[in-house]
Amino acid sequence: MNISSFFCPTKIYMGTGSSSMLEEIMRGLSCKRIFVALDAALLTSKFYANILQSLTQAGVEVAVFTDIEPDPSAHTVEKAFVACAQHQATALLAIGGGSTIDVAKAVGILATNGGRIHDYEGIEQFSIPPLPLIAIPTTAGTGSEVSGSCVISDTEKNLKMSIRHAALNPAMFAILDPLALVTLPAHVAAHSGMDAFVHAFESYLSLKANLMTDAINIQAIELIASNIRSFVADRGNVQAGLNMLCGSALAGMAFGQTGLGNVHCMARFVGASFHLSHGLSNAVCLPHVARFNLVANPQKFARVAIAMGEAVQQLPLQEAALAAVGSIEKLCADLNIPARLRDVGATPALFDEMAVMCTQANYNRWNPRHTTTVDFRNLFEQAY
Ligand SMILES: [Fe+2]
Repeated sequence: MNISSFFCPTKIYMGTGSSSMLEEIMRGLSCKRIFVALDAALLTSKFYANILQSLTQAGVEVAVFTDIEPDPSAHTVEKAFVACAQHQATALLAIGGGSTIDVAKAVGILATNGGRIHDYEGIEQFSIPPLPLIAIPTTAGTGSEVSGSCVISDTEKNLKMSIRHAALNPAMFAILDPLALVTLPAHVAAHSGMDAFVHAFESYLSLKANLMTDAINIQAIELIASNIRSFVADRGNVQAGLNMLCGSALAGMAFGQTGLGNVHCMARFVGASFHLSHGLSNAVCLPHVARFNLVANPQKFARVAIAMGEAVQQLPLQEAALAAVGSIEKLCADLNIPARLRDVGATPALFDEMAVMCTQANYNRWNPRHTTTVDFRNLFEQAY
């Protein structure tokens, strides 16, 4: 039997100014004390001032926590959890990118399940619903607001722990408000936006893709490909920002269920070895992996080309499929993504080791083309 499923428990509000829905959400939850995980860059922003006003109007007392680093550690989660417990919060609000939302998710799990976050590494390792979480993403990238996972670093073991629960770990509410994006630096908008694109692209090509995730991912690819340039050019363009947030959330719903592929597998070690952001690591690897994967599913590549606005309907299948790779290369170039790993400070000396780690991580098990250690080595070399 070949049975698949689709599930998304998050209620999503979307639209310019939709963060004003917080007041109604607070009343619905009967929440009087909330713990806010906030990207520190927004502490003095007009956007956060408006959020505080909504919470005050709803009679909610706020404790705010901003001490969150990229790739947040278990130590940060513990500090945040202590602050949350001291405040006796009954709900959580995350305003930030993936790191901020992931810390809030982890705090929510500890608040109801006890123990340390290490106890919940893996799939469905907790059973008590976490504190209700409202997530307001301030990057259009990770899709963490709707995904069932959070990633926390174990700095003692130098490992990333993935805590996954499709039903219990997504936020209860996500608010996609493009006003949250207006202060995002252009390069962060480009790199995180490409991360969202890669989520949709890899999820669409995944061996675990189904008809539901296909529909979601094609819409995500179309939204991102047709809005990312104007969004990066002007983060104050709220229509482009909203379309990017929706594309990112759509991809977030799908990739948790289909898994990702070679791009994320390689980017994991590129990022760690050469100290690059997750989004940039993905974006640099993407065109090379796309070219490698093409033979595995030219039909889907041709469909990607159409979603990216290429006029390929009259072309033979292989040419239409190849147009997707060309379109991806053009997109990366337009966003000033460096074309090669050498441009971002990578050194080939680590490629052998990285190729072995890619195989061992088995993070690409749903990649459409079987990939050996030698293949990974070649992909790093081509990307160099
Ligand atoms: Fe990603």
